[in-house]
Amino acid sequence: MQPIYRIAPSILSANFARLGDEVTSVLEAGADMIHFDVMDNHYVPNLTIGPLVCEAIRPLTKAVIDVHLMVKPVDRIVPDFAKAGANIISFHPEGSEHVDRTLSLIREQGCKAGLVFNPATPLDWLDDVMDKVDLILIMSVNPGFGGQTFIPRALAKLADARQRIDRAREAGGGEILLEIDGGVKIDNIAEIARAGADTFVAGSAIFGSGDYRATIASMRSALQTVAARR
Ligand code: DX5
Ligand code: ZN
Repeated sequence: MQPIYRIAPSILSANFARLGDEVTSVLEAGADMIHFDVMDNHYVPNLTIGPLVCEAIRPLTKAVIDVHLMVKPVDRIVPDFAKAGANIISFHPEGSEHVDRTLSLIREQGCKAGLVFNPATPLDWLDDVMDKVDLILIMSVNPGFGGQTFIPRALAKLADARQRIDRAREAGGGEILLEIDGGVKIDNIAEIARAGADTFVAGSAIFGSGDYRATIASMRSALQTVAARR
């Protein structure tokens, strides 16, 4: 059986002057969840949106809001996003003083917890916390900006993460999503799925296209060509 594939448009590439309409139309066009990029001009050299904007879009949809924190420190802002209606909160281990504690804090706040890996960040961070993560996010660009080119080494990292997830599941662990973020397009999404991803962030590929519905449909038909995992 094919895994359930989720397409998560990154609103970083949306038109911020019409953000509510953009969220509504991308979901009507077939998106599964909303990827919400939070940048603090400290952990990454860019400044984007925070809990107030999350709170503003929350009433527009029941779809999952997938908050990707590119901030340092992390813990202070976690409860604000939980209150603002985030469903998943992910962070970079480099941004946290204590990764285990931050993962627990996110779950205590009623959200799913994700850990994010930059291209140069090893997956070893997972060794001691597999039972505390609900999502693993592999960055296929260096974080900070939309519209960058996919870094192919991310494919091997996805395969490694997929093996870790499968082992954890066999040992009785819960569901863990495997998300990819950066440079995902219609023409590489199938290869990325073959490497093991089940959740696909796409910013410029969707919001930069004239027709969100057609782009998401093309991504889904590319995913249809991926053979089922054993
Ligand atoms: C980059 C962000 C991404 C970005 C993806 O730091 O985390 O979510 O918006 O944009 P594209 O799909 O254009 O690479
Ligand atoms: Zn992101």
